Amino acid sequence: MVKMARFIAFASGKGGVGRTSLTFNVGVAMSIFGEKIVLMDFDLIMANLDVITGLLNPDVTLHDVLARDKSIQECVYEIEHDILVIPTGIHFETLKNINPNYISWNKIIKEGSSFGDIFLMDLPAGINPNISEGLPATTEVVIITNSTMPSVIDALKTRILFDELDINVLGFVLNMWHDDKFLLSPTEIESILEIPIFGVVPYDRAMDRSVAMGKSVLELNPSSPISNAIMQIAADILGREYEPIEPDKGNIIERLKKFVGLLPE
Ligand SMILES: Nc1ncnc2c1ncn2[C@@H]1O[C@H](COP(=O)(O)OP(=O)(O)OP(=O)(O)O)[C@@H](O)[C@H]1O
Ligand SMILES: [Mg+2]
Repeated sequence: MVKMARFIAFASGKGGVGRTSLTFNVGVAMSIFGEKIVLMDFDLIMANLDVITGLLNPDVTLHDVLARDKSIQECVYEIEHDILVIPTGIHFETLKNINPNYISWNKIIKEGSSFGDIFLMDLPAGINPNISEGLPATTEVVIITNSTMPSVIDALKTRILFDELDINVLGFVLNMWHDDKFLLSPTEIESILEIPIFGVVPYDRAMDRSVAMGKSVLELNPSSPISNAIMQIAADILGREYEPIEPDKGNIIERLKKFVGLLPE
């Protein structure tokens, strides 16, 4: 029997809201739950996943497959155990040989997804008819937004367009959240978008640091609020249970006490 992957697409109205960072980190979180993950970049112009997954300048990319020079098998990279990445490239020369109207996304998605249990797609910002029409009918969309008005309004437009295309939107993730009375609150956003909230990921500079190190935030600090939020999102999408990891404060206090001589070494 041919194994069918689950198809999950991370979309957003605005750019820069953290789609690619979350695609990667939620993918890592799902692999911790034992799933085999394939991450695929759908942004043909501004490749993102290659940088964020630490897969810098890969030899063969989706561009070569779309230009019919290479097979999909040649551009599947294992970045960690059970995490595979299908990147796009950055060269306009190769892009010139690709006619976006004749891309057979169906074939690419079918072949790419056969490598894992969950196929996570990092869509470009906004909706591109070319791509949305190529998405499998069983695609489940997660919309990423920040709490600014323009980002939420564009998330709403995206949600409406996916509805019109009959593509199932599971819910949204509020990313880069921080408490500020001028920003929309999670419940306000929920009532504007009229879809369930999947999680609130706090603003944390650890995201930038982890990218610089070619790692996930989970690897950097699994007990931080941002890591627990990402693990919870992965658990909810997978229908699994997750208990947040508590920061080991006791240990730090013990070490401090030893340092000042209150406890023996
Ligand atoms: N929760 C967060 N806290 C702080 N910084 C974050 C968070 N999530 C993402 N970032 C940072 O925001 C920047 C944009 O993230 P990312 O590239 O993932 O966004 P994107 O939506 O994929 O952008 P694009 O539209 O360009 O593809 C990056 O520098 C990333 O490290
Ligand atoms: Mg991106």
